[in-house]
Amino acid sequence: MTKIQTKYVCQSCGYVSPRWVGKCPSCNEWNTFVEEVSTPLKVSKKPAGAASNIEPVPLEDLETEDVPRVKTNINEFDRVLGGGLVPGSLILLGGDPGIGKSTLMMQMALKLQGQIILYITGEESVRQIKLRAERLHGERTKSILLLAETNLDLILNVIERGTPDLIIVDSIQTMYRPGLESAPGSVSQVRESTALLLRLAKTQGIPIFVVGHVTKEGVIAGPRVIEHMVDTVLQFEGEAHYAYRILRALKNRYGSTNEIGIFEMHEDGLQEVKNPSEAFLSERRYGTSGSTVVSSIEGTRPILIEVQALVTPTSYGMPQRNTTGFDYRRLSLLLAVLEKRVGLHLGTQDVFVNIAGGVKIDEPAVDLGIAASIASSLRDIPVDSSTVAVGEIGLGGEIRTIGHVEKRIQEAAKLGFKRIVIPHNNLKGIKGQDGIDIVGVQSVNEAIQQLLG
Ligand code: TYD
Ligand code: MG
Repeated sequence: MTKIQTKYVCQSCGYVSPRWVGKCPSCNEWNTFVEEVSTPLKVSKKPAGAASNIEPVPLEDLETEDVPRVKTNINEFDRVLGGGLVPGSLILLGGDPGIGKSTLMMQMALKLQGQIILYITGEESVRQIKLRAERLHGERTKSILLLAETNLDLILNVIERGTPDLIIVDSIQTMYRPGLESAPGSVSQVRESTALLLRLAKTQGIPIFVVGHVTKEGVIAGPRVIEHMVDTVLQFEGEAHYAYRILRALKNRYGSTNEIGIFEMHEDGLQEVKNPSEAFLSERRYGTSGSTVVSSIEGTRPILIEVQALVTPTSYGMPQRNTTGFDYRRLSLLLAVLEKRVGLHLGTQDVFVNIAGGVKIDEPAVDLGIAASIASSLRDIPVDSSTVAVGEIGLGGEIRTIGHVEKRIQEAAKLGFKRIVIPHNNLKGIKGQDGIDIVGVQSVNEAIQQLLG
């Protein structure tokens, strides 16, 4: 008889302990251990007959052919995937609850005409899915099959009877294998379910999407444990109160992880944002202080975004610092540089920084824009509205070299900006651009003089 073992598994990182502990020694989370029962697998010492004949293949002899890809017909989506869906790939789509994962999946299914798609749902009823599909105004189609089931063994049975061209599993946290004793959503269940789907994808050559919820720490599926098993990890993100959604590839065995797709959530589903700079600048107000346009490289594309700052005298006690879409610690650093190198008195001021449109930027090239907005708001002088500012700020108040300057200049010129302020060291070797003045600056002081006039 096989011995049944009890172990305790951290639901956050997958660390296994023989007894219950309050704090995980691996990821330092509290109260994440859950009891899981497992029957150990028997590994036979003697290799089975067939398995002993395996041979390695010389790399030279391998034929390469272009991976055939299936286009999803959503350009932004195809770009993030690296040009379309690869047969037999397992793709994890993660994101906060309510961000639009199920919507994106259904919209893709509706666009993939002529392919049999099996949509397995463990979260909603088939009626709810029908209602969503109607809202999305997809063409009527018989090729999307819905299955409201969470028992993977039963699901496998269905798949064996009629092989679909694409499978969507929404979500992996609701799926379970009856052979395992732990609850759906636990590390063991999620891991086992993913392993099963991985085998299915590889043996049948079917692309499979698994939807996973991000927990509050921003980790997909609570347990990080399945990110390494899948071929592609996509993350769908955005602020709940804004319409913009950004799709990123965090890992992609079939393409680059540099690309992002930008969508806007509408009444009737997600719409691709073809010209993000225009969209992000559409609500800009001219002539008010505390606003600067920066150029941030998202993926491989430059995007112009407005960064805003509001600086007001502190009314009680401690001055407040608040950021939306920008790193809090980076703001503290910029404030210290402005205080020491430019002589701005910010110690008695509340400072609020906001990236318009609900996007997050963590690129150092936006430093200069943030600093300019803060100086502009403090002095109540608007930044010239036909100027874009880019540059990383060093602790000495120097403006440091950034990447992809030409692309940023081109995008600014394309959108009709008259001037762009860039790091002085970036001036070398760049070609000018018609219709836009390029100004190189060496220090924050100099940059602020240029921008605030
Ligand atoms: P959903 O795809 O269910 O999110 P997830 O699967 O990531 O949890 O969609 C979430 C939100 O999107 C929901 O609050 C309603 C909104 N929504 C629209 O605004 N327009 C639409 O066409 C659809 C289908 C949803
Ligand atoms: Mg959903």
